[in-house]
Amino acid sequence: MLKIGSLTLNYPFILAPMAGITDLPFRMICRRYGCELAFIEMISAKALVYKNRKTEKMIATRPEDRPLGIQLIGADLEFILKALDIIRKYEYEIIDFNAACPVTKVTSKGEGAGMMKEPRKLGQLLKAIVAHTDTPVTVKIRAGWDEKSVNARESALYAQDAGIQGLFIHGRTRAQGYSGSVDYDVIREVKEALNIPVVGSGDVFSPLHAKKMFDETGCDCVAIARGALGNPWIFRETAEFLKTGKVPQRPHIHEVADIMAAHLRSIVDYHGPVAAPVVFRKLFVWYTKGFRDVKPLKDRAFRAETEEEMLELIAEFRGNERHCQTAMSVSGNDLLEM
Ligand SMILES: Cc1cc2nc3c(=O)[nH]c(=O)nc-3n(C[C@H](O)[C@H](O)[C@H](O)COP(=O)(O)O)c2cc1C
Repeated sequence: MLKIGSLTLNYPFILAPMAGITDLPFRMICRRYGCELAFIEMISAKALVYKNRKTEKMIATRPEDRPLGIQLIGADLEFILKALDIIRKYEYEIIDFNAACPVTKVTSKGEGAGMMKEPRKLGQLLKAIVAHTDTPVTVKIRAGWDEKSVNARESALYAQDAGIQGLFIHGRTRAQGYSGSVDYDVIREVKEALNIPVVGSGDVFSPLHAKKMFDETGCDCVAIARGALGNPWIFRETAEFLKTGKVPQRPHIHEVADIMAAHLRSIVDYHGPVAAPVVFRKLFVWYTKGFRDVKPLKDRAFRAETEEEMLELIAEFRGNERHCQTAMSVSGNDLLEM
């Protein structure tokens, strides 16, 4: 069991925030397969304060979508504190502060990973956030700005002194973006320096990668991000693998197709019938990854304009057993070799 503030988790893995991806439908699909704590994508404190309608929709939730964390991004304390007042009524279980986003548009304003250039200021900001809310506060950092300024340990210590209840670390520098591989050493250094829970993030694409993250870093929990794209089963499989040590079976093609259809339906409810097929295009590609001979279907998915067209493509995918072969073989040895 893992405790972050007053929140207790049965499983030591969570769904990481992903901008444009971890919306309500995505979170609910992951929850079906054992994801306990999920995060809304990062929310700009300024956008919240200016009552941006898109942002208001992004922070919406429902009772089954729990426990849920929200992640704020910003550098201006006045806006951040106002944003905290606005979200108070949602009673999220965790408020995470983003000091990790690598996008230039964000860092050029001193936000996201830009915060890692001034770890002392990050600490001061976090202290004010902690003082302003009763909700447990966490922070997400990176390894550092670039390879010449890897300062995760220093930043993490300032953050801990500020009174946060947990720390997420993506083991890449801002300069790396999402390229290269995750640096387990830097996560281990942070874990060894802190006495609050540390959540390791980076390259958890399978239950074996999750175990590797635990073994290499000693972290208390792992965050699953890209590994959950079109793959909500990773939560069920990770729970099973950590418990039994056996590599679980990958889902059958019929189960994949069923979940694709369910996911599409909830996207229609959430985003509306016009936007839904467009939103689902990338999900079609992710869900069918690793299956054989799906390129023509994927091409057609990118031209699909209605829910019905998309459902037809999912039905075609489901009915073609040929697709099955590669996916089923991914379950055993391929996973082990990853
Ligand atoms: C498309 C995309 C959007 C992301 N958006 C966010 C975000 O809003 N907030 C955040 O803290 N991290 C965000 N991340 C980073 C992930 O949470 C995670 O730390 C990172 O992808 C490393 O994990 P992975 O290698 O398992 O994907 C995003 C990553 C991706 C790929």
